[in-house]
Amino acid sequence: MNHNIVILGSQWGDEGKGKVVDFLTDKADAVVRFQGGHNAGHTLVIKGEVTKLRLIPSGILHEGVQSFIGNGVVVSLDALSIEMNELLERGVPVFERLSLSEACPVVLPIHVAIDEVREEALGDQKIGTTKRGIGPAYEDKIARRAIRIGDLAHPEKLKAKLKVLLDLHNFTLKNYYRSHLQFDLEETYLKLLNHAKTILPMVCDVSAKLNDIRKNKGKIIFEGAQGTLLDIDHGTYPFVTSSNTISGTVASGAGFGPCYIDAVVGITKVYTTRVGSGAYPTELFDEIGEHLGKKGCEFGTVTGRKRRTGWLDLVALRRAIEINSITSICLTKLDVLDGLKELKVCVAYELDGKEVHYPPYDNADYMRCKPVYKTFIGWSQETFNQTEYEKLPKAAHDYISFIEEFLDVPVDIISTGPERNQNVIVKSIF
Ligand code: GDP
Ligand code: IMO
Ligand code: MG
Repeated sequence: MNHNIVILGSQWGDEGKGKVVDFLTDKADAVVRFQGGHNAGHTLVIKGEVTKLRLIPSGILHEGVQSFIGNGVVVSLDALSIEMNELLERGVPVFERLSLSEACPVVLPIHVAIDEVREEALGDQKIGTTKRGIGPAYEDKIARRAIRIGDLAHPEKLKAKLKVLLDLHNFTLKNYYRSHLQFDLEETYLKLLNHAKTILPMVCDVSAKLNDIRKNKGKIIFEGAQGTLLDIDHGTYPFVTSSNTISGTVASGAGFGPCYIDAVVGITKVYTTRVGSGAYPTELFDEIGEHLGKKGCEFGTVTGRKRRTGWLDLVALRRAIEINSITSICLTKLDVLDGLKELKVCVAYELDGKEVHYPPYDNADYMRCKPVYKTFIGWSQETFNQTEYEKLPKAAHDYISFIEEFLDVPVDIISTGPERNQNVIVKSIF
């Protein structure tokens, strides 16, 4: 049985990662976020009660399970404290269960302002970010000037670093973007110090803790945020997020070496969605697209934006399988396809008269790709709430078998509703 697994999105995010991480957590000792920030929105539904998580790992509701935010995550202390308070009010003992790395870069209000004015300046070329300051915060990390969680323990150093950072960004806001937004050093500093009292006791050496759990034969879930096609290197650049979203990021974003990972689960929606701009060959603009959006409740958890919808894309998935070394697929939202007469699956792209079998790295080329579809007969029976593979309709079996054969990866879990226990477990993986 696998001990340390990565669960990540194989498409453009919102595949249902939170739900799957939550239900697999009953077998885990620890759940870890290793990249992204509060641009993520992970939804859990337990006996009708909805929990939306942005920064906190989706294992937090489970007693006896440690939740970790690894160094690869950019942390907004305002967002974290709101999320912690929401959970504390509901009686979840967050302080007992959650720790974070001192190396996490901090997302500041000035990062949010830069994200906003930059999107505005891009006009119709905008990326469609979540405007949470994620990109600007990662830029500061790479430029080696980020405020990190550990800096909160050293007020003088913190203030000096903050001054450099605010001077630079205030200058850019005023003189480049002609924005009236300016951020005061003293005010920003005092707000950070105020958070320090709550946050510092939660700081630990995440890498060392995870490796202790590993040495004691514990079980760890690494929870991805966003999705493979939003990866800064392998996604539809520049219409991507600012972190690496792929499985390899566990090593850099949590300090847990690649050879310690036993399995990688690719959470894969049976159709596709995308929020924000960028190439999307199988996008639907007709009533089927509308139907998928409505039935699948495809509205962003973070921003409430309507998600774009389309058919399943096996070409994009081929890339996701290979760059993540996905060993199991978990198909989600099978129930959303119930009642459709016909289903389409993209098996190749046509680009300038030639068939291509991998997504191009250039977004402009990707935009010109036309999907080549294979058509399947749909099913009229309900799969909603089904937990037994044999009871799924034959047409659903055919659809699932085709995906497995095409990608040469088994579908080990099928999710048939938003609730924690609405799943068909084909093979126990954890
Ligand atoms: P994440 O970001 O990957 O965790 O996904 P989101 O939570 O943003 O979006 C997934 C949405 O689909 C949430 O509203 C889930 O409650 C819901 N969901 C997850 N699995 C299923 C499923 O199998 N069927 C249906 N109908 N909804 C699901
Ligand atoms: P989860 O974890 C879907 C998208 C944004 C935008 C692009 C860049 O819930 O699957 P950013 O704010 O990261 O700079 O925005 O990435 N995006 C997501 N789309 N699900 C997410 O997270 C996303 N996080 C970011 O819509 O297109
Ligand atoms: Mg989401």
